[in-house]
Amino acid sequence: MCGIIGIASSKPVSINIINSLKKLEYRGYDSAGIATLENNFINEKKCSGRVDELEKILFKSPSDGNIGIGHVRWATHGVPNIANAHPHSSESVSVVHNGIIENSDDLKKELEAKGAIFKSDTDTEVITLLITEELKKSQPLKSVFKTIKKLKGSFALGIIFKDFSDFIIGARRGSPLAVGYSSKENYLGSDSYALKSMTNKISYLDDGELCVLSKDNVSFYDSNEKKINKKIHTVSDEKNISDKGDFKNFMSKEIFEQPLTAKNCISEYLDSLKKDINIINFPLDPRNIKKIILIGCGTAFHSCLVAKYWLEELTSLDIEIDIASEFRYRKLKFDSDNLYIFVSQSGETADTAAALDICKKNNVKTCSIVNVIESTIARNSDWVLPIHAGPEIGVASTKAFIGQLIVLYILSLKISFLRGDLDKKIYNQKIKNLENLSNSIKKTLALESNIQLMAKEFLNARGSMFLGRGSSFPIALEGALKLKELSYLHAEGYPAGEMKHGPLALIEEGLPVIVIAPKDKYFEKTLSNMQEVIARGGKIFFITDNKKDSISENIRFGIRVPYLDSLLSPILLAVPLQLLAYHVALLKNCDIDKPRNLAKSVTVE
Ligand code: G6P
Repeated sequence: MCGIIGIASSKPVSINIINSLKKLEYRGYDSAGIATLENNFINEKKCSGRVDELEKILFKSPSDGNIGIGHVRWATHGVPNIANAHPHSSESVSVVHNGIIENSDDLKKELEAKGAIFKSDTDTEVITLLITEELKKSQPLKSVFKTIKKLKGSFALGIIFKDFSDFIIGARRGSPLAVGYSSKENYLGSDSYALKSMTNKISYLDDGELCVLSKDNVSFYDSNEKKINKKIHTVSDEKNISDKGDFKNFMSKEIFEQPLTAKNCISEYLDSLKKDINIINFPLDPRNIKKIILIGCGTAFHSCLVAKYWLEELTSLDIEIDIASEFRYRKLKFDSDNLYIFVSQSGETADTAAALDICKKNNVKTCSIVNVIESTIARNSDWVLPIHAGPEIGVASTKAFIGQLIVLYILSLKISFLRGDLDKKIYNQKIKNLENLSNSIKKTLALESNIQLMAKEFLNARGSMFLGRGSSFPIALEGALKLKELSYLHAEGYPAGEMKHGPLALIEEGLPVIVIAPKDKYFEKTLSNMQEVIARGGKIFFITDNKKDSISENIRFGIRVPYLDSLLSPILLAVPLQLLAYHVALLKNCDIDKPRNLAKSVTVE
């Protein structure tokens, strides 16, 4: 989703802005732009498509300014073209924006009534023209304060001013914004990752705050326009992990990194000497928790759904789950004995962050399970359980999903044990099984060549279905989501037992149907549902574990993942589905790391 960069320096900044924009590409975008200040002239350059295009434009016609802002845009208002790309500049100011201005139509009408002429279809241009109006009466800082008071919605802004050539103003409400420091220049960025090649000293703006950045100073202001001090964080140096290495793309690297993800994550939470789970500082005593509510979006929501099955199996607790964009608008009864858990790779997803805010306003205890520990969601929750997966660059989440599942599983075990729901012997055995998970993921990845063959069968398909029962149902949803995201092939995930209530009508001769059926209590039931599909011509791809053998003859392909523990099956079953989506997309020549229309970090509602 949209990404912002700003640099105030004593030397030309355009090359560093381009390099930082490349770091933000992982968020997903469809156009890019840059504006620098050169001798009281705003030099704006924009393109639709990739940052590489923008780089070519700059190569032909370089920008020399020492102050500049850059942007990658993920279209919300107006198609992705040059006119709608950011920055949006007037005769006096240039603005880059991440977020959505909800009252932009009303503001636009007011501005047009005063004679303003709009050049784009974006909501952002109202900000440019409002600041332009204010600048006729006030200084830049005051003009920005006055402007943002008129805005409804969410924003992170980077602003430069034609007549003030030594600073950038940044502002934040809802959408994240980071400030980076170095000895001779200062930076503005949508996330610390984009600034990492330049600095690891970062401050984060909170809602309502503004910052003024010059090459040798940064000042912060709160929403009352009072100067404030901000904490400077030192972010971890994970540069090596964010390198593609010998892999074709980040996604394949991240899929094959999963044994390491599992190992790192498990070693963070297991005390290998005491053979115990070292999760401490629960915000609520697990014995007194009344209900757990898990909230997330996309793949993170699927993690919540798997965890619901685990927590219900392992504890006597009531468990509820919800998609963040639904949760935030429900009429809910908040209870201080409930624990609200937010799952998010980025920790910046707007709906999840808003759902967390609602919980905070209702004074209930919150926990976040995130990959980015410096993120908004992590900073705003009472308790943080990081997944330690390292940067995930591929838009479609893979290793972060596995990391989320592992943390949720470990948390479920610990809660269950502390509540006295789980016998010590079984608890110890489950911990032991966890120690073998990394190796089992590695063995599952070795099935890649079978999955490559399977992928070919999807090339001419008009759609596909993924079926599972119990904790394999969320894995079916995740498998379908991965295939949709990466290969643009229609895929539906369904509880196998629900097929006869409608989706069976979709089954026709040759339709690929992926049946996920570990040898658990649902196995026979799923087989019956599968027979109903076979009887109607569906082409079955069967994914099971190697607990017992016998795969029916009617099945076109069978994949068997290692069996470790029935509760750990969803983690292992997810891996072949990631590989399937990956190989179908590869055969279809899709942009694997940056699928069309999607964003890694969804910072708008
Ligand atoms: C986007 C990504 C998905 C991700 C979802 C939630 O849609 O493309 O891969 O699952 O956002 O993101 P989060 O960062 O909150 O896990």
